Amino acid sequence: MHAPITDSVEADFSELSAVIASYRDIRGSLITILQKTQELYGWISQDAIDFIASGTGIAPAKIYGVATFYTQFRLKPIGKYLIMLCKGTACHVNSSDEIRATISSYLGIQDGGTSPDGLFTLNTVSCLGCCSLAPVMMIQTPEGEETYGSLTRESVLRILYDIAQKEHISDVGGAAQ
Ligand code: FES
Repeated sequence: MHAPITDSVEADFSELSAVIASYRDIRGSLITILQKTQELYGWISQDAIDFIASGTGIAPAKIYGVATFYTQFRLKPIGKYLIMLCKGTACHVNSSDEIRATISSYLGIQDGGTSPDGLFTLNTVSCLGCCSLAPVMMIQTPEGEETYGSLTRESVLRILYDIAQKEHISDVGGAAQ
């Protein structure tokens, strides 16, 4: 689970500070610190790297090198809704490529991209562990995650449309308060 990505979240490293305090004296714990950073903020910003560097004494260039070496780490902010579309074998044979193309075309993003409004990020992932529901996607938000199975082009468009509508309504509601 991750917090929405905003500049203000990026600037608040109090929780990261506690993580660093717990791990800085443990040899080889840089990857753990980076994993926890990504859990807290959804991605690893340059500011976070600098903060980790000052808290651990490890050179920022080394931290950056480790973060870029492992594909698990995200160095760009992600959207409020992280779409994890399965590309495992069962989903692949059940046309997950077609679902990916539908999502890409609807949101105007490719795999790994984030929609211009910051709402959606699309990531293809390996098996999500519910192959009987193929093709499957999971959508992760700050509130939790939801799994959608037996996807069709129509159902995935409906899901994305409903989320966008809900967000739009809450934006309007928030602005009216
Ligand atoms: S292959 Fe997609 S959930 Fe297993």
